[in-house]
Amino acid sequence: MSNKSIKAIKGTFDILPSETPLWTHIEEVSRKTFEQYGFEEMRTPVFEATELFVRSIGEVTDIVQKEMYTFTDPGERSLTLRPEGTAPVVRAYLEHRIHVNQPFVKYYYIGPMFRRERPQAGRTRQFHQVGVEAIGSDSPGVDVETIALAYRLFVQLGIDDVSIRLNSVGCKPCKENYSGLLRKFLKPRISELCNDCKQRIDRNVFRVLDCKETACRKVVAEAPSILDSLCKPCSEHFDEVCKLLENIDVPVNIDPRLVRGLDYYTRTVFELNHSALGAKDAVGAGGRYDNLIEEMGGPAKPAIGFAIGLERTIMILKKKGADKVSSDKDKVYLISLGQYAFELNFKLLEKLRRCGINASMDPEPRSTKAQMRAADRIGAAIAIIRGDREIEEGVVMLRDMRKGNEDTIRKDNVIDKLLEKLQGEN
Ligand code: HAM
Repeated sequence: MSNKSIKAIKGTFDILPSETPLWTHIEEVSRKTFEQYGFEEMRTPVFEATELFVRSIGEVTDIVQKEMYTFTDPGERSLTLRPEGTAPVVRAYLEHRIHVNQPFVKYYYIGPMFRRERPQAGRTRQFHQVGVEAIGSDSPGVDVETIALAYRLFVQLGIDDVSIRLNSVGCKPCKENYSGLLRKFLKPRISELCNDCKQRIDRNVFRVLDCKETACRKVVAEAPSILDSLCKPCSEHFDEVCKLLENIDVPVNIDPRLVRGLDYYTRTVFELNHSALGAKDAVGAGGRYDNLIEEMGGPAKPAIGFAIGLERTIMILKKKGADKVSSDKDKVYLISLGQYAFELNFKLLEKLRRCGINASMDPEPRSTKAQMRAADRIGAAIAIIRGDREIEEGVVMLRDMRKGNEDTIRKDNVIDKLLEKLQGEN
């Protein structure tokens, strides 16, 4: 057997206990905010039939062409680790025939996604998203509620300076119409474009608009605006979205060059950016997908949603120095001076836990200094110290680790006293 150490797979990483409080905090704030806006949680499997993603995200997208973790299981089925959360929610919505009884539903999800991208800062192969999907209405009010929710979530997390780019890519005929116009504009200037964009003109012309190469950006800056080719209903829809956003003071920048890397989008699309990530990456993105449910074999149900990347959210919080979250529960550490004290403390430990107190102690009696250090390391608020003298007198010592003072109390009163002290602090 090789004794070479086994490492985490490239593009994946461990979230160690020093980091988990921050992750939990973000997840809790997300849940709370989503629920305030009337969204309910949906959990779907991490792998699905490959066809689900090919049909929904689009055959010619980067995700489907190069980034999916696809494998054949022993039953000869092609399966894929989910690269995003919208298609699975739509699949579940249709599979459970939710549309039959509920004309309008709002779901949220939290979990890992998988894309085989080139790993770099803010880009990993297993990453985590929180996202929402509102299915069953094409009202501009739902677009506005969804965008306002994304904005509010960042504010709740202490990030009040995300910028939101907003655009409309129109309905299917608008998209087709504009694709033709854009091709006509780009073809005579094809020599100025990067090699990828030369291919994109025929395969997926919208993606030329968000190419990051300077030469392509220069060409695109002169391209016709998609907003000028919207049909009347799409144009009115977009105007209404902009007006309602203004009414509720959600700041957005209209950007007619904004397009998205997934094929299912129609009408409203938006992206959330933050200067801490540089110009390249978005921290969140979303939009309408009014045809997807019908294209997946369901009824005509317009829908909208977004997803936010947690790794990138954490990068922003770290850059802002806002990544320290305090544990919501104070900890107690039991310190034993001698074997008998250790046994009594071990009994007390279980009693404390049964009363809901967050308590721990060394697994074997060690020096007082080592135990005090352990109490410090876990950030204990209170240490319960017991040695021969305390046992003889039927007391324990409570040391307030933050203030540094000590109290001697009768051993029978220890739980009441602890609860009183801990409640006083919270
Ligand atoms: P997306 O733009 O592909 O949209 O991803 C949303 C967010 O996920 C990105 O803005 C980014 O923060 C994060 N993300 C994506 N790929 C990676 C990666 N490789 N590493 C780290 N973070 C990443 C969607 O996924 C759509 N399903 C959003 C949506 C929901 N549209 C409608 N409903």
